[in-house]
Amino acid sequence: MTRIRILAEHVANKIAAGEVVERPASVVKELLENALDAGARSIRVEVEAGGKRMIRVIDDGSGMIHDDALLAFERHATSKLRTADDLLSIATLGFRGEALPSIAAVSRLLLQTRAAEEEEGTRVEFAGGKLVGVNPEGLPSGTTISVADLFYCVPARRNFLKSETTELGHIASLVTHYALAHPDKQFVLKTPTQEIIHATAVETMAERIYQLFGRQALDDLFELLPVRSPMRAAITEAELTSEERAAELVVRGFASRPEVQRGNRNGIYVFVNKRLVRDRLILHAIHEAYRNVLPPAVFPAVLLFLDLPAEEVDVNVHPAKIEVRFRHPQFVHDFTRDSIRQALSRARPIPSFAGVTPSATSAGEQQNGAAAIAAAAGANQSGSGLPRAVIPPLGGPPMGGPSAVGTPMDAPSATGAAIAGDFELTVAPLRPEAQRFRFESGFGTAAGESVSETDGNFGDAEPLASAGSLTELKPLGQVNASFIVAVNGEGLWIIDQHVAHERVLFEQHLRARREGQLSGQRMLVPIMVELSPRQIVIFERIAEELTANGFEVAEMGPRSVAIHAAPAGIATSDAERLLMEILDGTERENAAISMDSLQAKIAASTSCHAAIKVNMPLDQKKMEWLLGELAKTEAPMSCPHGRPIVLRYSVREIERAFKRI
Ligand SMILES: Nc1ncnc2c1ncn2[C@@H]1O[C@H](COP(=O)(O)OP(=O)(O)OP(=O)(O)O)[C@@H](O)[C@H]1O
Ligand SMILES: [Mg+2]
Repeated sequence: MTRIRILAEHVANKIAAGEVVERPASVVKELLENALDAGARSIRVEVEAGGKRMIRVIDDGSGMIHDDALLAFERHATSKLRTADDLLSIATLGFRGEALPSIAAVSRLLLQTRAAEEEEGTRVEFAGGKLVGVNPEGLPSGTTISVADLFYCVPARRNFLKSETTELGHIASLVTHYALAHPDKQFVLKTPTQEIIHATAVETMAERIYQLFGRQALDDLFELLPVRSPMRAAITEAELTSEERAAELVVRGFASRPEVQRGNRNGIYVFVNKRLVRDRLILHAIHEAYRNVLPPAVFPAVLLFLDLPAEEVDVNVHPAKIEVRFRHPQFVHDFTRDSIRQALSRARPIPSFAGVTPSATSAGEQQNGAAAIAAAAGANQSGSGLPRAVIPPLGGPPMGGPSAVGTPMDAPSATGAAIAGDFELTVAPLRPEAQRFRFESGFGTAAGESVSETDGNFGDAEPLASAGSLTELKPLGQVNASFIVAVNGEGLWIIDQHVAHERVLFEQHLRARREGQLSGQRMLVPIMVELSPRQIVIFERIAEELTANGFEVAEMGPRSVAIHAAPAGIATSDAERLLMEILDGTERENAAISMDSLQAKIAASTSCHAAIKVNMPLDQKKMEWLLGELAKTEAPMSCPHGRPIVLRYSVREIERAFKRI
């Protein structure tokens, strides 16, 4: 019986139309999704020349019966959708019936497939969209699709592809993402010369992260244990159907500790019902969750999985299916934000003495090729010593000018002839640039070990210190008049007095600002300051906000201003530097200045200047006061710039060091 059907025209017309195949990675994405939809347990991806010469995806899924194998190449032929109503609750990754015909139209494609219930398999060949052969073939059950010479019949498109290395990077990124979303399946990515990913099926997400990125990534992330909420919280009770009553939103995943800082969003991955999506709403929720924990314009690394009933998400809004629309966006946003925020406050990391190795990449640093969580997780540490995949994010740079690939448009393809034969292609060595890329980025040797080969110990037995741990700290004294030494039931602590005070002032300042105007402190004599033309522009844009923060600054001509008052606590000698820092910090941001981040930035700069410094003796009362205030803050473990505030040497660690346990 044929399982695939051609969609009725009125259904097909409701599907978000657009380009399906943009680059080799788009082919890999479609083929991977098909394999997953077919229930594959093991998916193997083989690519040559960055996918330009060959992409082969081998799965052990359901396979297709003979008639389906041919039907699958008709436009709008799908087994996953029947009626327009089905579009409202799509549970599969595919639904349009577009992918195979679109790929077949721009390549030489070979499908080899056998459904378990058929004795013989089917082999179907297409070239440039034309059927060139259908034959029976003895095959294992499952499906293999080989796509050779992508865009060979569309030279304009082929010439716009990027270098093999770049294209391979996109493919690796994609396979990584899907491997993360499906830890229970095996994923392999191979080129003729190397195995880039080899992730055997594992039970937990943590094990999968370990396989793909190594130990250090796990250390820098904390787990967001599943948090559930009934969807009915989003709906007025009266409208509820019984299905809605049972429906749940589940948020889970991994998120980075505050000291892990990224200069961009490339370490953030969001999966909605196991589909990788780019979603501004969820990005915003993540940003909100980390507000005041990370400095402004710095991003965390997050692997977030949202699972909710299919009817709650519209996936039919983008031709490449990478955007979704939620039926109850506000609810999803707020619940996601609160779940991450709560987990962050529970797992606020307190660095131990032994483990204080800054894993943060500097805030402004742009990660070239943008590793996934891997780089976010501090590629500057050896950690487990395992190599880690450094993989560019999905999407990547938009297609630019002609690619670096030197193949002339009409040069006969070395693989073309082979395809007409038995589809076995000759293997060319990787181009030198590919070698270089591997070398520089560590790309290519994602830890292939299965976790059983390791100690399998993912969580340190040491209980995580939480914000509550800071109460009842008894200060003993200072080291170097800079670091307070204190003890409580949990162990021995060292507190950086400057950043501790900075955190206290930051939260006070921000709270006061959000509640209204902050009063400033008038100068005896105004301070004249010369500004650069760019600083003047920024000054004019944020003058009102400066006033609301306690500044009183008047323009005194085309290039200079006079500071009459500065925020309370700022020494006269510091007022000019603070103003400059705010103007320059804002200048580096792009054109649109968000009020939230501007306010946080001003609060961070002001508190840094107003806080007690290092090399300042403090008496017992002052130390007690500071520790008490710190314990009351929302994020006592890291300063507004993300540096650690406290180190803890737990009782256990002390006992261990003295070999008592
Ligand atoms: N690896 C596979 N194993 C089993 N069946 C497959 C496989 N790949 C494709 N098919 C069948 O071929 C049909 C067409 O695939 P195609 O990818 O073109 O469309 P789709 O997955 O239904 O929708 P979309 O265009 O959104 O991906 C699928 O509906 C499925 O029945
Ligand atoms: Mg598909």
